[in-house]
Amino acid sequence: MAPSKVLVGVIGGSGLYHLDNLTFVKKVDVTTPWGKPSSPITISALPNGAEIAFISRHGPHHTITPSEVPVRANIAALKSLGVQAIVAFSAVGSLREEIAPGHFVIPDQIIDRTKGIRADTFFRGEGVVVHSMFGDPFSGQLNAFIKPRVEKILAELGGGAALHTGKTVVCMEGPAFSTRAESLMYRQWGGDIINMSVIPEAKLARECEIDYSLICTATDYDAWRVGEAPVTVEEVVKTLHTNAGNSRAVAAGILEEVYAHVSAGELTEIAGSMKFACITRAE
Ligand code: ADE
Repeated sequence: MAPSKVLVGVIGGSGLYHLDNLTFVKKVDVTTPWGKPSSPITISALPNGAEIAFISRHGPHHTITPSEVPVRANIAALKSLGVQAIVAFSAVGSLREEIAPGHFVIPDQIIDRTKGIRADTFFRGEGVVVHSMFGDPFSGQLNAFIKPRVEKILAELGGGAALHTGKTVVCMEGPAFSTRAESLMYRQWGGDIINMSVIPEAKLARECEIDYSLICTATDYDAWRVGEAPVTVEEVVKTLHTNAGNSRAVAAGILEEVYAHVSAGELTEIAGSMKFACITRAE
């Protein structure tokens, strides 16, 4: 019998506004205490009948800038549906020669350049002080599960889209891309790729005890390469279409197994991790 809960959520980034190989079930129009999500949430059935939830981060027609994504509503809405694991997708700039446009990256670490600007917690102004554990900002267990599967699918696709792992994503504010000096600085800091979206998504997923992994697709070399023009939207859009097709193939290839893994209770580190996060003392 098909599992009845929506245990897995997918967040689509630039270029990824729907998934393939799914049967549409319904759209749900959720309102959370933090407002409405970026888009109605699409519930779809995988070939085995298990249902997943999909949100388009920038809205179905890409009208929401990275700084204005209602991330708390997105994560709260997925949590309210019972989601325990999120596989998010994001277009990124590359800060490393070996990460070419078209390549995939599953990062392990984040450098946050949006601190203090975005609403990055559910607890501010709530009369409680909460510190989530965020040293390893992605789900190590979910990352370890999806990495070999994504690698296998990319090899089968055969278009030369390599997978890089163990990398660090810089999250910048935008909307303008980085200056050359900033791009060079991020490289010195140890950044490998750059986007405008992983924060606060990863932080809020952690506060909700949801396992969160990010599958990135490189669209450009940002602004660090000497003698080359810095990144433009035109350049980003050029690879976006191919990258989105490959991302849909990856999603179609991994989601049933991810669902089964979550359903079997194999993700054990993030659930319950907020148990001791509240430092406020009861009277
Ligand atoms: N998303 C795609 N390319 C990017 C870049 N170079 N900087 C920030 N976000 C991006």
